[in-house]
Amino acid sequence: MRQRVLVASNRGPVSYELGPDGTLAGRRGGGGLIAGMTSGLAAVVAQAEVTWICAALSDGDRIAAHRPEAAPADGQVRVRMLDISPETFDRAYNQVANSILWFTHHLLFDTPNQPQFGREFHLDWAAYVAYNQAFADALADEAAGPGDRIRVLVQDYHLSLVPRLLREKLGGGDGDLGIAHFSHTPWAPADYYRLLPREVGQALLDGILAANHVGFHARCWADAFLDCCEAILGARVTRAAGGDGDATARVMHRGHVTEVAVHPLGVDVPALQARARADDVRAHVGALGQAAGGRKLIVRIDRTELSKNIVRGLAAYRELLATRPQWHGQVVHLAFAYPSRSALPQYRAYTDQMALIARQITEEFGTPEWNPLVLEVKDDYPRSLAACALADVLLVNPIRDGMNLVAQEGPVLSERGCALVLSREAGAAATLGEHALLVNPYDVSETAEALHQALAMTDAERRERSAALAATAAAWPPARWLGDQLASLDG
Ligand code: F6P
Repeated sequence: MRQRVLVASNRGPVSYELGPDGTLAGRRGGGGLIAGMTSGLAAVVAQAEVTWICAALSDGDRIAAHRPEAAPADGQVRVRMLDISPETFDRAYNQVANSILWFTHHLLFDTPNQPQFGREFHLDWAAYVAYNQAFADALADEAAGPGDRIRVLVQDYHLSLVPRLLREKLGGGDGDLGIAHFSHTPWAPADYYRLLPREVGQALLDGILAANHVGFHARCWADAFLDCCEAILGARVTRAAGGDGDATARVMHRGHVTEVAVHPLGVDVPALQARARADDVRAHVGALGQAAGGRKLIVRIDRTELSKNIVRGLAAYRELLATRPQWHGQVVHLAFAYPSRSALPQYRAYTDQMALIARQITEEFGTPEWNPLVLEVKDDYPRSLAACALADVLLVNPIRDGMNLVAQEGPVLSERGCALVLSREAGAAATLGEHALLVNPYDVSETAEALHQALAMTDAERRERSAALAATAAAWPPARWLGDQLASLDG
């Protein structure tokens, strides 16, 4: 029996740019989901045929979607891009997925004003349903083929309805079909999730629960999901005993049992270290090291994203400089933020807020000999790897985060050992917390104090903690993350 694996995610492993001569140039997609899935699939392609279904995001992608010979090929993974109409895509991705679901799971609403679920939202929601249906239709089409063992891996909040829509589309004729849904985000507490219109909150849970296996990066997000299944759907939940990360819970809903489990995603250490040895990264290591001039480096690397809490992180650095003058002239903060979701006004405003506080810090503390802060809003992967290699302190302080890859990659790449100041609200705190300095992401003073402690740490302690962090990140390689999910579908 042939084994086939179908992956479905909004963003795909490759995106195309259209050249002036009509040729399409492919570029690897960014973000934690893509990195984890691409690396995890490397071990799967030897035993199974893999097809990755994603949305066409750029004009080049839309062309590639209709040129099967152009769209495929990211290694041995076949890529199928869906050309969903721009209006449907905008409403589903920008308005529902990013403005409502992302905000819900990351607790980002300014609740006196947002959200407002009026007529416009209902149009957005209809588009979200249509967008999910397009994925379910494509998956059903790919799943056709008698006798095959089909494993479907549905990713994230964009595609919550897909497991249910796929089962409906296949109408019971789904043979050996196993569906897993994985959330790379946190899950909202039930009281916050209740902000969603009742039928929407129910439909999202009902959609996901049509999967056989549902995964999260951390136990706290799985527990919040289970709470919502009970409180919003009235589903019967059997909780996993004990605090073990691998324990599996079960949800009984509409006569179907769904497993809910935790699969932390760490780092493909050999691949990351090999990338960091490349010339472009080494050139940045040289340049950044020279610019630092022997001063200590506090590094942060994020998407320009509200949940990453960059503004409070900068406020903490300002408070550190204001309360601990011994660091004046001794430290530089490299804050690298690559642009993201600029279609949304909140993200553009947030980028402006970051720039404003950065200017204030430079004006208040900078001298002709010392620039205390470098804030760059630019996508430069080799430079980010170089900054990780040189960091004395890594600041990762999200309001909430499904996992967080930088917190794991930093220690793996660190050349002298780095101290990690980590939000207790990042999924990574569950695996890395013991060796990090944990902070409440809203508490600017506590974060400033943790930065001070991290800077003042002895070299020996910093190296020891950093090695333990790197070992933990290495213990959860993407191959394990994906392999465990596939094994759950077979078990
Ligand atoms: O956290 C979930 C996630 O899918 C990440 O994997 C990724 O970094 C981010 O969201 C991508 O968001 P977008 O595709 O909207 O840029």
